Amino acid sequence: MAPSLVKLSKISWEFNDANTRTLTHGYHPFHAKFIPQIPRTIIEHLSKEGDIVLDPFCGSGTTLVEAHTLKRNTIGIDIAPIAALVSKVKTTFIDPNELEKAKNKLYEMIDTKKAKPVIPNFPNQNTWYNEKTLQELGVIWGQILTFEKKNSDIFDFFQVAFSSILKTVANRSEHWNWAFIGDNMLPKLNKYTNPNKYFNNTLERMISGMKDFQKAKTKNWTKVLKMNTKDISKNIKKKVDLIITSPPYCFAVDFNRYYRLSYYWFNWEIDKNRDVEIGARSKRAKKCGIDDYFSDMEICIKEFYQVLNKGGYCCFTLGNTKRDNKEINAVERTIEMCLKEGFQLVEHTYRELSKQSMAQKRIPKEAVLIFKK
Ligand SMILES: C[S@@+](CC[C@H](N)C(=O)[O-])C[C@H]1O[C@@H](n2cnc3c(N)ncnc32)[C@H](O)[C@@H]1O
Repeated sequence: MAPSLVKLSKISWEFNDANTRTLTHGYHPFHAKFIPQIPRTIIEHLSKEGDIVLDPFCGSGTTLVEAHTLKRNTIGIDIAPIAALVSKVKTTFIDPNELEKAKNKLYEMIDTKKAKPVIPNFPNQNTWYNEKTLQELGVIWGQILTFEKKNSDIFDFFQVAFSSILKTVANRSEHWNWAFIGDNMLPKLNKYTNPNKYFNNTLERMISGMKDFQKAKTKNWTKVLKMNTKDISKNIKKKVDLIITSPPYCFAVDFNRYYRLSYYWFNWEIDKNRDVEIGARSKRAKKCGIDDYFSDMEICIKEFYQVLNKGGYCCFTLGNTKRDNKEINAVERTIEMCLKEGFQLVEHTYRELSKQSMAQKRIPKEAVLIFKK
């Protein structure tokens, strides 16, 4: 066995007590995020500086931030617009002084009496938000929009800050987080929450993250593509050296719908994106839902094999889920599909999910799988 694989086989993948909010990692909440230590460890052991690292289900861009700071070039792919935006912002360097100036300008504009709220028309807005909260959010959003044409990187940065508070300041109910996972649950309590306070704190935290990123940034390039992973080989012409990803778990969550408040504010399509989302929870009622999940994943695995250089590694973290109390054995099926494609399985271990994780009760552990081409 290669020495790097021997070292990897001794790793304890839980990384208990690790700081997961360094650099730009804490910019935006994202369901089923990697802890940065997972991609970092794999990148350090299975690639070298200058290599190309691909995360084909990049979500909030954890792999990309780690790959970049380790002097690797990196490509992230995701179908969800929220994922593509957050990944782009987390890996785009903006001088923190420039951000401070833009932030002060934005606050100034928000504070003027002339600032008018801009509130898109979206379903149940007075159930999602207390009226005063909604109006104040509208004022912030209206002023952020003035940056769209002036400086698109700063606009995107503010947009991520705004998106990251939309759930926090929304009305709540007892099982508030489930309201986003469940299909049609709406909050029941109506309460004012000051959006300016949360927005200011978020911007401060993000600018501080950018200062850390400034120290760690490298000359390597990063590309984020909003597209279907089933089409990678049509869009990426150069082969990659390492693939690291956490694919969507079968029926665990609807990623596009989970961030629906951001989609409402930014006028992004939910249903169209959800239709192409692999394993979306809403597809669990479909008789052929499980077969569709595996046939989609099979196409993706073929694509991974095609775009990976010979000798390169393809690494997954993946867990089994349930439908009607029956286990969906995604780990075993993924191994079978990868072997059939020609990959060799070189590491198969498990990690316990953190007790704080929302999914922990349903998915207590997940597999770490490493294949070689
Ligand atoms: C488990 S999450 C990845 C989280 C990521 N590792 C992180 O640290 O944030 C899986 C991602 O797969 C994406 N996805 C689902 N179906 C897809 C498809 N057909 N093409 C591209 N991305 C897809 C979802 O939008 C979601 O962001």
